[in-house]
Amino acid sequence: MSAFKLTKHVTGYTFGDPVETGIIQGEKTYGHQELPLEVHVEKGYGSISFSLTKHDRVYGLGPNLGGINKRGRQYESYCTDDPLHHEDKTTLYGAHNFFILEDDDVATGFFIDFPSRIRYDVGFTDMDLFTIDIHGEDFTLYIIEGDSLKDIVVNFHAVIGKPYMPPKWGLGFFQSRWGYETEEDIRKVYETFREKDIPLDGIYLDLDYMDDFKDFSLSGDRFPNFRTLVSDLKEDGVRLIPIIDAGVKMEEGYDVYDEGVAGNHFVKDESGKPYVAAVWPGKVHFPDFLQESTRAWFGDKYQFLTDLGIEGVWNDMNEPAIFYDETSLSEGIEAAIEAKGQNLGVMPFFALRDKFMNIGNRDEYYRRFYHEIDGKRYSNEEVHNLYGFQMTVSASEGLRKHLGKRHVLISRASSIGMHRYSGIWTGDNSSWWSHLDLNVKMLPALNMSGFYYVGADTGGFGGNASGELLTRWMQFSIFTPLLRNHSAIGCAFQEPYAFGEKVTAYNRHLIKARYSILPYLYSEMLKSYEDGSMMFTPLSFEYFGEEALQAEDQLLLGEELMIAPVVKSNARGRYVYLPEDMALVSFREDEVRLSAAKAGVTYLSYGMEDLKFFLRRNRMMPYIAPGRSVKDLSMKVIHLVGYLETEAFYTLYDDDGTSYGYEDGMVYKTEFSARRDEDGDIKVSVRNENPNIEKVIFTLMDGDENSITKEVQV
Ligand code: NOJ
Repeated sequence: MSAFKLTKHVTGYTFGDPVETGIIQGEKTYGHQELPLEVHVEKGYGSISFSLTKHDRVYGLGPNLGGINKRGRQYESYCTDDPLHHEDKTTLYGAHNFFILEDDDVATGFFIDFPSRIRYDVGFTDMDLFTIDIHGEDFTLYIIEGDSLKDIVVNFHAVIGKPYMPPKWGLGFFQSRWGYETEEDIRKVYETFREKDIPLDGIYLDLDYMDDFKDFSLSGDRFPNFRTLVSDLKEDGVRLIPIIDAGVKMEEGYDVYDEGVAGNHFVKDESGKPYVAAVWPGKVHFPDFLQESTRAWFGDKYQFLTDLGIEGVWNDMNEPAIFYDETSLSEGIEAAIEAKGQNLGVMPFFALRDKFMNIGNRDEYYRRFYHEIDGKRYSNEEVHNLYGFQMTVSASEGLRKHLGKRHVLISRASSIGMHRYSGIWTGDNSSWWSHLDLNVKMLPALNMSGFYYVGADTGGFGGNASGELLTRWMQFSIFTPLLRNHSAIGCAFQEPYAFGEKVTAYNRHLIKARYSILPYLYSEMLKSYEDGSMMFTPLSFEYFGEEALQAEDQLLLGEELMIAPVVKSNARGRYVYLPEDMALVSFREDEVRLSAAKAGVTYLSYGMEDLKFFLRRNRMMPYIAPGRSVKDLSMKVIHLVGYLETEAFYTLYDDDGTSYGYEDGMVYKTEFSARRDEDGDIKVSVRNENPNIEKVIFTLMDGDENSITKEVQV
């Protein structure tokens, strides 16, 4: 083992000869560092275990099921496509090996830099034991220290690099559905949003727009006037965001396939020939994104889309998902032929059924194809979790090169490190109340891993959503940076207007509110970019006590807000834990009402027609008038709503919303302050760098619900 320091707070311990994953950045200073825990390494295997007292908590592990405190379950880091996120699933699409272990006195962060399978048993098999099984002997373990949970996260973020920042329009509302089949379908969706007066910034294009599921192609029949469609909608602030899949259809004469073969860009099977798997188009080859030349080649392909006016893309099926491979399909067919005419009893029948039922994404597929990194051959299994990450690096670099301004990019598969290149959506959830609850709990863990541009398929991807579920989901997801309503082909339609006028009105109100608070969300993202802090924090990261630990369906947003969504059906409200006195904000387009809410557990009545959240003491939050699209939003008049006892500040970060200037600090910072002097008089002031702001209207309330309004011209 060799040990090194990356920063004052981050120490690395390397076992064996690990693959360079590119996740951790920075200069290493080698030297003698004592390993403060026992790591067991033997041939092909590493393990770590911690004994847990009943007070210990474990946070992190990115996009996983379970609560904010990960205890009581098993998890696996191995990017997997599984569209049914049932209770017992141990792994989803991402592999995020960062976690914090905390007892009542100390908290320590850990990151395992290893690109293949890791299993975590967090007090599942034995309540008092946390075991980690690493399926390899070559890895680096990082230990991250800090003064608090939040500080540990900041110190971790300092060594994984700055996160992806979408353009401002990326925070608008997006509509999506697998099954908007034609240009007319897309225009109809756009027109309905406009007709119903619901703001919109983009429509995602699923597989349907492609010719025969071929990447970088268009269906001439279904989308004959693609370019005009893109420009017509963009003129009105609505962008189209097409999907790109990892598998490239095998078809001679198809440029991407021909170039891939000629350029030696595809992953190889045992014999050195391009590996054949099957996804949407039937047989495909997978680009070897782990090679730089392949990333550059594939990245340039995105120019096909940018030339058509596209400014955003989603990368899908990049775990990579495999429907079947040639070997397994032939085995299945042979078994079926053999079984023909036989009287199959239960066991032979199950064996035959399994040949087909579990034919997708079998473990053995990932042992049957190979990558090359710096001239060395690795089976996909050995470096599995880098695949979607590196596909997204390829897309990000291609889009950046060919667009010359910021783009929207989300990926399904992920690993830490990819946060520098894109956001993620949380994959194929279902229209279940439990998945709304999961959405809330997963968010802080994604921020811990460095991902800020995140969101779930609002309303749920699989299954049928009810109007009630959609509105309740929206009451939460209007706060998530990525806000997209997406559903699967064959499920009931779930657009915000799909459930009759009453529900449409609720959703209209919520989406408009999203546009009103968008400058705040955007500002918080820019701040996180600057200082590495989390945007969504569990209460237990900020407040002490058992109640804060248990309140896992409430989150803090920035330093200002606490959100407490309703995540159950038939509810007219919910119990909320307030760790301190706060102001309850009832947010309506024409009126934002503040009322006092006392510390402790309180019942919040919360209807479908409402948008309610809490503002912390001596904090203010900005909002503006809504618009039809981000393009229409005006920063001229900023409203500041505050709960003022003594003094409160807020600094609003903003920029041009499209350029990469923020990377060089080209961010406007506007400082708002409000102070109550000894006589009770309130003074407000604004120090402004933002050329777009002209007037600021403060509405401030104290604990006795006395409210004042003050205007400042800037
Ligand atoms: C799987 C993705 O997760 C889903 O969002 C998409 O609609 C389907 N693939 C079809 O492309």
